[in-house]
Amino acid sequence: MGADTVWSAADQAAGYSLPAPFFYDESIYREEREKIFLKSWHLVGHINDFRETGDVVMESILDQSVIVMRAADGQIRGFHNVCQHRGNRLVETRRSKARAITCGYHAWTYGLDGALRGAPRTECLTNFDKANHGLKPVRVEVFASFVFVNLDADAQPVAEMAPGAEAQARRFLPDLDRLVLIEEVDVPVAANWKVIQENSIEGYHFTYSGPVHRELAQLIDFDGYELTPRGDWWTYIGPPRKGVTEAYGVPLEGATWQTDWFFNLGLWPNATIYAFPYSDVVGTFIMIPTGPETSILRFGYYGPEGRALPDVTKACIRWMNQDLGPEDIQLNISNQKGLRSMGFSHGRYIIGETPDNRSEHLVRHFHRLCHQAIRPEAA
Ligand code: FES
Ligand SMILES: [Fe+2]
Repeated sequence: MGADTVWSAADQAAGYSLPAPFFYDESIYREEREKIFLKSWHLVGHINDFRETGDVVMESILDQSVIVMRAADGQIRGFHNVCQHRGNRLVETRRSKARAITCGYHAWTYGLDGALRGAPRTECLTNFDKANHGLKPVRVEVFASFVFVNLDADAQPVAEMAPGAEAQARRFLPDLDRLVLIEEVDVPVAANWKVIQENSIEGYHFTYSGPVHRELAQLIDFDGYELTPRGDWWTYIGPPRKGVTEAYGVPLEGATWQTDWFFNLGLWPNATIYAFPYSDVVGTFIMIPTGPETSILRFGYYGPEGRALPDVTKACIRWMNQDLGPEDIQLNISNQKGLRSMGFSHGRYIIGETPDNRSEHLVRHFHRLCHQAIRPEAA
């Protein structure tokens, strides 16, 4: 490991941020794979994505692939997405409906519970027991009605990792249990996953970076915007601004919403569950690494079942996909380019005596979590 990938205690004490190579170095990325992503919880979807027997969702975790599916017994289970015959990838689509999982190579067929049901020509073997060749299970947990997987059998349960987080979410998102997917949009972003995360967890850039951010700041009482580190989870929450009568270009009259606050719950390492003010959707915002300098940004939008989407909400989703999202993504991309510069090594956190709505204290908190995960000995 080069000296440039060392974040010294002295630098940290002096308020210097995580060094630039952490955002592009191949070896750091490999360490993150092993020590962060193969050990942490990944948000796959909402529990209602698995309402029917045979609902299957595929989740990629870097080079690993997992399928999560609901069987006839009502259980939601996760498995490595690989055939136990010669290792063929089983499922290639993000969402599907299945009666069983049949491998496209030699037609081994697995039940929705992962058990091997059929394997052509294995009757010619004398000592072949199907019971020994089922799909390899992966841990699945439901937290705040969202479904998570973890490749680490010893990982701490999500609720233990984020004590109090579900209660926070329920305060602001009354329809958490009865959400259904409206749409999911995957956007490739030429930036390290942490660059995207940093941008979303500071309000410093809100009034400087672009017109759409100022629109958002107009909807909230920005002075009351609070960013709070809470261990392996964090929140950033803005109270409503008084006297708002329209949002995202649409009058509020007659509309329903989850909350009039701007609510965000971050879960280590890369998932955010949130609601924009006056919008009747719960959003998920997931930064999925695809390489040291590339990510997929997955935007999920879930609305309360049986309630028509108000025009304000439709406008909000459009605004996120077409306005706010792209404004931030442009920053992510230009930030990533700059991090490669020979003229930059690391920066100073802007954190005063008392952290406030424009401080970068949540960025520092996140950097510390990342650093601690891959360099526990330095902590
Ligand atoms: S690899 Fe799946 S059946 Fe042969
Ligand atoms: Fe932003």
